[in-house]
Amino acid sequence: MSNVYYAPGEARSARVNELFGRIARRYDLLNDLQSFGLHRRWKRRVVELARVTPGARALDLCCGTGDLALALARRGAEVTGLDFSAQMLEVARARGQRRVAGPAVGSAPNPNFLQGDAQQLPFADNSFDIVTVGYGLRNLASWERGVEEMRRVARPGARIIVLDFGKPPNALWRTLYFTHLRISVPVIGLLFCGSASAYAYILESLQHYPAQLAVAEKMRALKLKNVQVENLVRGAMAINYGEYAS
Ligand SMILES: C[S@@+](CC[C@H](N)C(=O)[O-])C[C@H]1O[C@@H](n2cnc3c(N)ncnc32)[C@H](O)[C@@H]1O
Repeated sequence: MSNVYYAPGEARSARVNELFGRIARRYDLLNDLQSFGLHRRWKRRVVELARVTPGARALDLCCGTGDLALALARRGAEVTGLDFSAQMLEVARARGQRRVAGPAVGSAPNPNFLQGDAQQLPFADNSFDIVTVGYGLRNLASWERGVEEMRRVARPGARIIVLDFGKPPNALWRTLYFTHLRISVPVIGLLFCGSASAYAYILESLQHYPAQLAVAEKMRALKLKNVQVENLVRGAMAINYGEYAS
């Protein structure tokens, strides 16, 4: 299946933005279908690793429809969610509004959802106690630049956490998993979102992304401490964790 969304280099941003603009309304449903609902569990793990303290300043990059940003806010963080897709942000803001209108609001304010580029963050150095990105790094023209920006805006003591598709170390499992991404996921995309190519893009982007081991290496090169990789589903998904100590 040919892919119309992957483009190398700087041309990527425009294509990726177009892709997410197109699928924004169906994004949450499709996430549940293609991961069998498991992305919720993996995101809970990210929030756990963030060790939110009341009033902590958190930044969620490539926040999309706001899953991680809203979950961090529920724990009491003061959250900024940043994404470059106006349509994804529209869904995130609507979810935030429903939370305010709903019964269990809690005391934490809603995230501030902001439009911007994860590779050029509009924040000063040393601004956040928690910096997360869920399924975003893989989409950047330069994932390295994304990690550098995460580190730049982190305060001493900050937790930096990346959740994304991974590359399983076991060859047989990797083949089965990539077959799921190559065949079932685009079929689900076609049936429920009217676009197979938007979902075929997941595998294409993953093939151009060096995944969990390279992200850990980059975190170490940036002198993050306590760098860890948590492989989920035998490495099909992964969480990279690091702490910034000045
Ligand atoms: C797969 S979605 C992930 C959404 C959400 N974090 C989640 O885990 O469900 C990727 C998001 O990254 C955003 N994105 C991609 N490149 C970006 C960039 N350079 N700057 C900001 N957002 C970007 C897209 O608009 C999209 O909302």
